Amino acid sequence: PIRPVILAGGAGTRLWPLSTAARPKHHLQLLGERTLFQETLARFGEEFAPPIIVANAAQEDDLRAAAPAHAQLVLEPLKRDSAPAIALAALLAGDDELLLVCPSDHHIADTASFHAAIATARPAAERGQIVTFGIEPDYPATGFGYIAAGQGEGVRSVDRFVEKPPVEKAQAMIDQGGHYWNAGIFLASVATWRAELERHAPAILEAASRAAACATREGNIVRVDEADFARSPAKSIDYAVMERSDRVAVVPVAMGWSDIGSWQSLLDSADKDADGNALSAGVLALDARDTLIRSSGPKVAAIGVEGLVIIATPDAVLVMRREEAQRVREAAEWFEQET
Ligand code: GDD
Ligand code: MG
Repeated sequence: PIRPVILAGGAGTRLWPLSTAARPKHHLQLLGERTLFQETLARFGEEFAPPIIVANAAQEDDLRAAAPAHAQLVLEPLKRDSAPAIALAALLAGDDELLLVCPSDHHIADTASFHAAIATARPAAERGQIVTFGIEPDYPATGFGYIAAGQGEGVRSVDRFVEKPPVEKAQAMIDQGGHYWNAGIFLASVATWRAELERHAPAILEAASRAAACATREGNIVRVDEADFARSPAKSIDYAVMERSDRVAVVPVAMGWSDIGSWQSLLDSADKDADGNALSAGVLALDARDTLIRSSGPKVAAIGVEGLVIIATPDAVLVMRREEAQRVREAAEWFEQET
């Protein structure tokens, strides 16, 4: 069976003040009852092998509480981005396995379509491809990878992978057609991961190998060695491998995917009332439209507002026009300095 590798090392300052350095996005309940991390795990039933979760050691307590007992927990002593995390998983997994690398902080509304896409991707992954999952783009986002797909049905070849292009280039790719957003989910064999890291990012693979060799184990927990892991360059898999590899394929899929990368995209995915508002408990909205209001702290009342995001926690309040959602990072940085 396919083994999920769940990456849970990101920080996520774009959902401030709910997400903070101490409370990363995957541990938030953003849509529904479960955290995004729990939602991610719930997508993988018994037809999958037990997951490998790669995460920061600082999150150990939260992870132990949320992870299922059969999961293997790989703890990184410091942040080195996704390529070293994937290298660790590829080194710790069995030689003949297929690994499905997944972010821990996305929403997928339609699990059946996700599973069907994985089944479509599988034969290509068994033949040595790294299969990506392509999302139909609907605006020139600059925070995603873009995949230029070749012709065909099902698994398609990839002409080019472009990580986080500037907006003009993103717009040009959308206008041209045949380009997809990279969902950040990758299916490839252990042998392929190791070979492509060796070819395109040898320093990362080497540091990860040493760190894994000196790791300490306690039941299902693997603690990676700090001195060796610190030598790895910090690089995402997208820049380290996907942009350079000639073994990339893509399965386009419509599965209600969102990376919930901003308050605007949470509002897009949330259930809304007839006026387009998404409101949490403890909130009063009178004559409000297209507004997102959440409070985990004080009661909040808003009157006659339109197109706003209002987020209150016990420590901070954010008020902004929803179009400004990309600038939340500026507020999060200010907050970290103030506190
Ligand atoms: N274990 C571990 N360690 N995981 C990490 C680390 C790390 O140091 N850094 C990031 N991750 C995890 C994050 O938690 C997330 O689940 C995943 O790796 C992707 O990292 P992000 O930092 O969220 O990447 P991104 O959103 O900027 O871009 C990626 O995702 C987009 C889709 O949402 C890229 O793959 C893009 O091409 C893609 O479009
Ligand atoms: Mg992300």
